[in-house]
Amino acid sequence: MKVEKICCIGAGYVGGPTMAVIALKWPEINVTVVDIDDDKIDMWNSDDLSQIPVYEPGLKDIIKQTRNKNLFFSKNIEKAIDESQMIFMAVNTPTKQTGKGAGMASDLTYIENSARTIASFANSHKIVIEKSTLPVRTAEKIKEILSESKNKFTFEVLSNPEFLAEGTAIQDLFKSDRVLIGGESTKTGQEAVQSLVEIYERWIPKTKILTVNVWSAELSKLASNAMLAQRISSINALSALCEVTGAKIDEVSNAIGYDHRIGDKFLKASPGFGGSCFKKDILNLVYLCQFYGLDEVAEFWLHVVKINDFQRERLAKKIDNYVSANNLNKEVGVLGWAFKKDTNDSRESSSIHITYSLLEKGYKVNIYDPKVSKNRIMEDINEVRNFKKTINPDLIIDNIIIHNSIKDLENSSLVLIVLTEWDEFKDLNKSKEDKIIFDFRNILEEKENIYRL
Ligand code: NAD
Ligand code: UGA
Repeated sequence: MKVEKICCIGAGYVGGPTMAVIALKWPEINVTVVDIDDDKIDMWNSDDLSQIPVYEPGLKDIIKQTRNKNLFFSKNIEKAIDESQMIFMAVNTPTKQTGKGAGMASDLTYIENSARTIASFANSHKIVIEKSTLPVRTAEKIKEILSESKNKFTFEVLSNPEFLAEGTAIQDLFKSDRVLIGGESTKTGQEAVQSLVEIYERWIPKTKILTVNVWSAELSKLASNAMLAQRISSINALSALCEVTGAKIDEVSNAIGYDHRIGDKFLKASPGFGGSCFKKDILNLVYLCQFYGLDEVAEFWLHVVKINDFQRERLAKKIDNYVSANNLNKEVGVLGWAFKKDTNDSRESSSIHITYSLLEKGYKVNIYDPKVSKNRIMEDINEVRNFKKTINPDLIIDNIIIHNSIKDLENSSLVLIVLTEWDEFKDLNKSKEDKIIFDFRNILEEKENIYRL
């Protein structure tokens, strides 16, 4: 099939950057990204490129080169679907909040609604691509919804999960470790796979484009995230043992990582993994295992999340123990709100949970992050409060102060806690002998007043 127009449903952290890269690599293809959130589309179309909704190094330049040439952000979902031969679905798949599987399974409302929208507006054969992370066998449900299309056009459903990490999204998209495409073994299924292979082949070596069956593609995405998160929980569990034995976690990580069978990536101890995906994807995997009666397997993966919660609470208690033992004021400065450096995303950031735990313990918390907005920080804290309801809402207003610069924050508190590894925090080493610094990202050199993990 000759692809002239591509549509992507979902203009978020995945839809925006992935489509920008496809548009850059394929000037002859028109790529339109649509979303139900009109404000988000306006932000993507903003003349001021600092207002685009996703902060990623390198993204602004690509948007500058492609936007309104062959990359469009549009509210007209019907037109974009109607005109495109290929439709990516990159909508959110959060953990279900109510109903069967609440708190564990993925909420497929957004993906199912997208499929319904495609079914209503498609006026020709379409290749529909799952870009979102989905439970294994979701393609079956999507096919069922598409088959109810009153127009009776044909559809091929492919799974093409995304492996980019935030903060390095553009370099990950340019040089993907692999591109995974799952399709049916039928003639039309394989033709659809080939059309998508051709898109990626323009910049990804053929040897890195893996074509598999749909269920393997869907499950490989959940499995990849589970394996990555498992390494972090393994090293964070060991960080607790280091603390009581006098071993140093970075030295242990380094020694382990030298074994080429283990490798040195994803062994950095931290205040716990954050981000919108690791926790939700593992819980989704746990739910799937339970669904198929594999309780021991479910229990194994659930512990990856439990250790993450343990690490956050352990570190909040460590601060509290220090403050109590030294008779200090219950006031701290939190450096970093994003779940990792080089992103404005704070979803599931450990900063939220550690700050909330300190508020519960009666602390005043000063916060600074170079990219996360004040509103976002307050929304994050209020969201946890509304879920746990363990503190009075007034307490949040009284005890949280958000600062505009690292200087302001430093002046505010004696005890500082580094929770995100932003490069600008590395300067804290230089002059801050009058401060007590807990560096839970191990970016500072150890000193008498600097405690690392
Ligand atoms: P996001 O919340 O940033 O973006 C999703 C967008 O989809 C939102 O803007 C939302 O308004 C829109 N949307 C929802 N329903 C819609 C509909 N019916 N029609 C049109 N638009 C609709 O989410 P994200 O971080 O981009 O993640 C999307 C998917 O990709 C998830 O399944 C996630 O697990 C997966 N993923 C995310 C990352 C990441 O780094 N964020 C990486 C790999 C995979
Ligand atoms: C992760 C995966 O790395 C991507 O491959 C995947 O596509 C994505 O999830 C997804 O499905 O959403 P992301 O969450 O953006 O990407 O970022 P990571 O670099 O994986 O970091 C996740 C969290 O783990 C961060 O809080 C980070 O600080 C923490 N981390 C990472 C550690 O604590 N230690 C490490 O060694 C590495």
